[in-house]
Parts: sequence; C-alpha cells; structure tokens
Amino acid sequence: MNILAINSSPRTGNQSKTELMLNHLIDGMREAGADVETVNLREKNVKNCIGCFTCWTKTPGQCLLKDDMTEELFPKWLKADLVIYATPLYYHTMNGVMSLFLERTLPAIQPFFEKADDGKISHPVRFKIPAAVWLSVCGFPDESEFDVLSHYLNHTEHKDTTLVAEIYRTAAESLTNPFVKEKAADVLNATTEAGRELVKTMKISPETMARIRQPLEDPTVFAETANLFWKTCIAEGVTPKQFEEKNMVPRPDSLESFMLLFPFGLNADAAGDRKVIMQINFSGEVAGSCFFNIGKGKINSQKGTSEKPDIAIDTPFTVWMDIMTGKADGQQMFMEQKYTVNGDIPLMIQLLDKEADT
Ligand SMILES: Cc1cc2nc3c(=O)[nH]c(=O)nc-3n(C[C@H](O)[C@H](O)[C@H](O)COP(=O)(O)O)c2cc1C
Repeated sequence: MNILAINSSPRTGNQSKTELMLNHLIDGMREAGADVETVNLREKNVKNCIGCFTCWTKTPGQCLLKDDMTEELFPKWLKADLVIYATPLYYHTMNGVMSLFLERTLPAIQPFFEKADDGKISHPVRFKIPAAVWLSVCGFPDESEFDVLSHYLNHTEHKDTTLVAEIYRTAAESLTNPFVKEKAADVLNATTEAGRELVKTMKISPETMARIRQPLEDPTVFAETANLFWKTCIAEGVTPKQFEEKNMVPRPDSLESFMLLFPFGLNADAAGDRKVIMQINFSGEVAGSCFFNIGKGKINSQKGTSEKPDIAIDTPFTVWMDIMTGKADGQQMFMEQKYTVNGDIPLMIQLLDKEADT
C-alpha cells in the first residue's frame, strides 16, 4: 500500500503533538508492510489558490501556479492509495496550512453539477481522489473540540472518496507530561496499533480507538496544572519550547496548587511497607501547613497539621518552590539553614528522589 502522510503542523519533534502521533501511526503502518512517505508542509512552497478556475477551463486538471504543489505534491497525492492528513486543531478546525493544501486539490474536481440518488448535488471528480485518514490533536480536554472538523469531513465526503478514519487526541500537550507518562505511552502505542490495523483492514478497532481517546487526567487537575504552566512561562519569559528545553517544571503559587503538584515529584515507593506522614509548614509569601500520607505507592494530601509526622519541614514558601523548580539546590539550602527538617532525614531524601523509581 502506497501511503502519503501530509503534516501541516508548524512545530517539529516532540514539541509537535501532531508529529508525535503521526510518527507512531506511521511506525505501525510500516510494520504492517505499507510504503509511507511523509510531507511536512512547513518545508514546502504552496501558494494560495487564486480562484481563477484555469484548472477547470483552459488547462483542465492542471493548476497554473508554479510551486511545490503543482510540481511535486499534487502528482504524489493523486498516486497515493491512502492519504493521512495530520493537522493541529486551530480555532476548532484544521489549520490554515492544511486548508490551503486542500484548496489546491481543486484540479482533481470537475466544474459540473451532478445530482446523486439522495438528491445531493456535487461536482464529479476528474481524477480518483485517494482515501483519507484524518489525524488531529488539540489543546482542550473536551472531545467536542473536534465536532466542527468532524462535521466538515463527513459533510464534504465525496461519493467517490472514502473517509477511512478520524483519529482525534484531546489535551495533546499532556502527551509529553511526565505526570501522565504511563497513559501517554498507552495512547502512543495504541496509535501505532491503529497504523497496523489500518493497513491490514482499512479500519481501526473500537478498542484501539478507545485507548487513543482515553482521558489523560482529570479535567480540573488538567486546568490547574496547565494554568500553572502558562503562569510559569509568563513569569520566566519563556515559550513552551524553551520551557521544555530547560527542563522546567510549573511553579505552584498557592498552598492548594502545591498540594496538587508536589505528590507528582515524590517517590511514594520509598516508603516501602510503612505509612509515612510528611508535614510541610510554609512561611512568608504563602503561609500555611499541609501534610502528605504516603503508603502502598499512594499519596494523599491534606491541609493543616498532623499530630505525629515522621518528617516535618519548616520552610519559607519561596525557598521550597525554588528547590522544587530547580532554581535552588535543596542540599545547599539545607546547609545554609534556609529550611529545617525534623524526623527521618534519610527517608525524606529517598522520598524526594523521584528518579529512583524509574
Ligand atoms: C493558533 C492556535 C489555535 C488553536 N486553537 C485551538 C482550538 O480551537 N481548540 C483546542 O483545543 N486547541 C487549540 N489550539 C492548541 C493546539 O491544537 C495544540 O497546542 C496542539 O498540540 C498543536 O499541535 P502541534 O503540537 O502539532 O503544534 C490552538 C493553537 C494555536 C497555536
């Protein structure tokens, strides 16, 4: 099977969740024996359709513009058995780059109007339009984000073309979030499986589709962590790409957001069979106390103070946030008595060593 993958994301590598999903889909397709070529539209010169209808009149089937679309992409597109359209969701639909590509496929259609058996009037095609798989990713966690795109695709499905599959991934920015790495890995593995299934059966099974679409995190947690992420980007003057390159982590700005994020950085397995209570008392900019019950690989956060903590940390909020976000060295701060610890210090060090469980 000869497959052409058209990627309209302007971003690259793992920064681009479109590319991340597409690469996994293609891996599966290649494993199943397909010949796949990827075209990144960001590297191509594709001019705007100027609406002259020359391709319908003076040179039927041939666009008058001279660019990569006419010379390279349109002929490749026509030859493909299957085309994957991979687009980031922008303003609830495909992005402008993909829309531009589609508009330039006008030479494949004839100008005439034909009435189908269902009474619908459409243009007959001039050339065989390849079957399509659409892949899109978006930022919001709600599935309805894809309603507009899906409606468009199903509305424009031509009687001579087939919409083979629609693969949609919500909250796609979380695919590289270490807090949800097991689920994200399952989504990506399922996407590879979808690639295999498509080549073998031209379908994606409901089980595989459910794994691709599975929620990555609770929407409230998603919104809170995403807000902290953007606040940190703004405060530090970095773009999301720079945030990732610098290995930064979102900086809590309240007791509540600290309680939400802190457990993700803890190595709960370090508690072993014990039930450990870690108390943190903040002073300064954000004053207040909370504690974490750690046991059996689970962590439960509570506001207030525990009667018998195994570890009690007293620290200015800013100092602990600097340590948590890698701006300050925890050991150095301890030596300089910027914070104090009472209780089982070796256990605290193990609990704070998240890398130890990976
Ligand atoms: C201009 C623009 C418009 C966007 N519009 C939406 C939108 O309507 N709904 C949504 O859920 N996400 C929206 N997003 C978020 C992107 O879909 C999301 O970041 C996605 O991961 C981008 O794909 P990429 O990672 O391949 O660049 C938008 C992003 C940009 C830059």
